[in-house]
Amino acid sequence: MAGPVTVVVLAAGRGVRMKSARPKVLHEAAGRPLIDHAVAAARALLAGRPGSRLVVVAGAGREELIPHLGKSAPEAAVVVQDPPRGTGDAVRAAVPALGDATRVVVLAGDVPLLTAATLARLEGALDADPGAGIAVLTALLPDAGSYGRVVRGGDGRFARIVEAKDATPGERAIGEFNSGIYVFDRAVLERELPRLTDDNAQREFYLTDVLGFAVAEGVGVVAIPVEDPSEVLGVNSRAELAEVDTLLRRRAVRAAMAAGATLIRPETITLDEGVTFGPDAVVEPFVTITGASSIGAGSRIGQGCVVASSTIGAGVALRPYCVLENAVVGDGAFVGPFARLREGTVLGPDVHVGNFVETKKARLARGAKANHLTYLGDCSVGEKTNVGAGVITCNYDGFGKHHTGIGAGVFVGSDVQLVAPVTIGDGAIIGAGSTITKDVPAQALATSRVPQKTIEGGGARYRERKAAEKAKKE
Ligand code: UD1
Ligand code: MG
Repeated sequence: MAGPVTVVVLAAGRGVRMKSARPKVLHEAAGRPLIDHAVAAARALLAGRPGSRLVVVAGAGREELIPHLGKSAPEAAVVVQDPPRGTGDAVRAAVPALGDATRVVVLAGDVPLLTAATLARLEGALDADPGAGIAVLTALLPDAGSYGRVVRGGDGRFARIVEAKDATPGERAIGEFNSGIYVFDRAVLERELPRLTDDNAQREFYLTDVLGFAVAEGVGVVAIPVEDPSEVLGVNSRAELAEVDTLLRRRAVRAAMAAGATLIRPETITLDEGVTFGPDAVVEPFVTITGASSIGAGSRIGQGCVVASSTIGAGVALRPYCVLENAVVGDGAFVGPFARLREGTVLGPDVHVGNFVETKKARLARGAKANHLTYLGDCSVGEKTNVGAGVITCNYDGFGKHHTGIGAGVFVGSDVQLVAPVTIGDGAIIGAGSTITKDVPAQALATSRVPQKTIEGGGARYRERKAAEKAKKE
């Protein structure tokens, strides 16, 4: 490995073929913007190499791209290329930001499947050839479509790259294509860049021409084919975006299984990149898990669950068709079927939340239960409290949200409304059907029902009267 390296990620192109108001590299594959995938590969290469840096070339859509990078890649130096006049012009814009690098790696922001291992292999190929000044990653396809073709001499050595739009029919028949991923000796790159012209079909400054110039000057270019061509798929259209999304998600599914999770009918399961699994987790068919979610050891995610940005502990049972967003579920909890845990829900260990229960900004302590048809919003529920069927925290008064505090060991009967702000003390009992508007102290019994009236024989007399009315009509 040579000295300091700078990775330049090209992301200034317009992405015309996406037909989008958004910059191409902010479109998402497997839950992450394309640019973040490129940054992840770059980071892996740069890790532990002092004096190395990351440069992103922004242009079209930079009003959106630069703020995004501020959050997702704050270490990146951003240079602006405006207008975008080709990949060679983009690298020229990056030259002042190369720092101390003796080597420059160029990646395209629209090639999200590239792995760190392949990048390392490419750099290794340059290290291994003392006469070489550039290494380029290529791939083979029966029809290389719109990719630039790799032209080799009679001896099989790399000669140059020709863009599909500039290629002769004979060149277009070549199956080996340019991935757009390179490792340059910095001196070679800086020497050749000023020589680029836009004398081609697209009137652009092609970075690819640097390789042909270098060869003409006797600098070796090693062109090594990637083992799996899908790794260098570029995204230029929505169809290609869908294709790389599918492949990245397949990779996420394999990573889950490698981590010890059982996935039942994995082809039906949708995972974002970066979702983590403990050993012996089980995921049933048609589950979607996205964002920074984690599933603990031995937990079971039932069929059809949708889990977004949530932390599921160990030994949890999410029964079928639950929807979770920004929720935390403690070890050993039972949830669902058909439960909805919204943002800010925190379930402690061994909590039970049953069918048709909705929670939002709700903290349920260890062993609390809300098993049926309940809304718990802006509230805390103490340990081992039982919330009966149909209980509602009335958290909204038409103007603001208010908190309901329910202590430990409380019994809230069925069909109770708790009108917030209100507090129920530890060990209290709330009678079924009550509307609670005032605080209830610890160990108290509160009801707010109209006293029951029972009329002896009244049911039978009512039926007789109705039958007589019916007979009179007929
Ligand atoms: C490029 C290569 C082609 C290769 C293909 C692989 C050139 C001339 N062609 O073609 O040989 O097979 O990638 O995917 O390099 N960009 C800029 N500024 C610009 C133009 C592009 O930053 O002025 C960025 C884009 O945002 C994109 C990347 O460079 O991330 C590649 O640009 P794109 O227009 O997609 O090039 P291709 O036509 O795919
Ligand atoms: Mg492209």
